[in-house]
Amino acid sequence: NKKIIIAIDGHSSTGKSTVARQLAKELGYIYVDTGAMYRAVTLYAMRKCYIDKHHFNREALERFLPFINIKFEVNSKTGLAEVFLNNENVEKTIRKLDVSNFVSQIAAVSLVRKKLVEQQQLMGKDKGIVMDGRDIGTVVFPEAELKLFMTATAKDRAERRYKELIDRGEKVTYEDVLKNVVDRDHIDSTRKDSPLRKAEDAIVIDNSNLTLNEQFSQILNIAKNVI
Ligand code: C5P
Repeated sequence: NKKIIIAIDGHSSTGKSTVARQLAKELGYIYVDTGAMYRAVTLYAMRKCYIDKHHFNREALERFLPFINIKFEVNSKTGLAEVFLNNENVEKTIRKLDVSNFVSQIAAVSLVRKKLVEQQQLMGKDKGIVMDGRDIGTVVFPEAELKLFMTATAKDRAERRYKELIDRGEKVTYEDVLKNVVDRDHIDSTRKDSPLRKAEDAIVIDNSNLTLNEQFSQILNIAKNVI
């Protein structure tokens, strides 16, 4: 079997990471959650370059960038990769709604993207990797052998994400979550550098009406045909 690169892009909260993780496990591939990398940089910016809810000090962030170290380490108990920001495990903190509400602004900064894209390209240089994000099929690995583009209605996505956050004990309202999903889609799709869009050769998966199992078997079949 040849090793390939699988690029999974799509709108916010479409379950990209769930599918990507399952797929990597099944194929014995590495899984990389690039959203976690942008979230970790965002957490740094919120701590060090924050002005108010809608603003951050961009020059400061650009100056600090060389000192921001993002890496993944596998948790030996769960077998799952967790993200570290300057050696601090931030896996839980970066999933909170306050980080979600800031991340698209930080992800629009070109120097941030340049740094993270370079790191992502290095991680995939030996292939055998499933990477999910917004620009994987278009910018990070335009030559990926398999590209998927996942989407679902904003309502379906917000409902799932709301349930997830509530299960984790966060105090959020459904309206806040829906707004976050819609706002992020908008900022991610309209930014100048690497906007979220479907690569021409990507296969679209609309999972509004699919169960997790249906979706996974569909995608696994597609992958097996390519490998
Ligand atoms: O995938 P996730 O929802 O965790 O991503 C969080 C945010 O990070 C996205 O809304 C987007 O602003 C940014 N992102 C990006 N490019 C990627 C992955 C994530 O701009 N490849």
